[in-house]
Amino acid sequence: MTVPVLLVREDREYLVEPGEEFGTDLGVLEVPEDVEPGATLETHLGTAFRVRRLRGPDLFHHFERTGAPMVPRDIGLVIGETGVSVGDRVLDAGTGTGVLAALLARAGARVVTYERDPEFAEVARENMVLGGVEEQVDVRAGDVTADLESLREEFFDVLTLDTGDAPDVVTAAPDLLVDGGFLAVYSPFVESTRDVVAAAREAGLSSVRTRETIQREMDFDERGSRPSTAPVGHTGYLTIARNE
Ligand SMILES: C[S@@+](CC[C@H](N)C(=O)[O-])C[C@H]1O[C@@H](n2cnc3c(N)ncnc32)[C@H](O)[C@@H]1O
Repeated sequence: MTVPVLLVREDREYLVEPGEEFGTDLGVLEVPEDVEPGATLETHLGTAFRVRRLRGPDLFHHFERTGAPMVPRDIGLVIGETGVSVGDRVLDAGTGTGVLAALLARAGARVVTYERDPEFAEVARENMVLGGVEEQVDVRAGDVTADLESLREEFFDVLTLDTGDAPDVVTAAPDLLVDGGFLAVYSPFVESTRDVVAAAREAGLSSVRTRETIQREMDFDERGSRPSTAPVGHTGYLTIARNE
């Protein structure tokens, strides 16, 4: 199986397959079958491109998009707050583009992820191949709420949810998670976040906390340093709770 690589030059970045003939306005470039990250390749006009393997944030930019993917910084919060690491089993819904599922797998977890749209699920499977995590991520086409009974027998270390019906799954969290396991729910609106918090409390989960995920970019120029006046860096609300 060939693993695509990135060709990088200044602000240009192209995703290419080993063995591909690739044309740009800077010339035609033959990508060798055995191309290795770290190499430099030249077009027939002598323009050099560096070869890079895709790292986590590159998946956000190069995965084919379906459902709106979580941004890498929020995924960092999920990993930091839940401690996802090597050997963990994660249940994730919905898959969407699959950026969260792929980065959890790259952190060392085995991920079962549900996507109710079969076409989105198929795209996500291809994205897992691009991310090099197709062995670690089991993309299941279907509605996660329909499988809650059978999932109770699997037991997960972490449950990650990014769906409108997350509260229905949160209700079942105590039966899905191991003792001490974590729930992480990403919600775009305050209203849906309230429902998630209510469901987590009702289910008897502990340490239920919600944080707005927001970051201010800094500008540094000759006049001074201050937060950027570009739009506020709000992305959503992250609710964390623990099964204990
Ligand atoms: C916002 S996207 C998830 C993005 C994903 N976290 C990522 O990082 O790429 C939400 C996805 O959940 C799917 N979905 C919504 N409810 C679902 C359910 N009950 N079971 C399975 N998938 C569901 C939608 O079809 C959509 O593709």
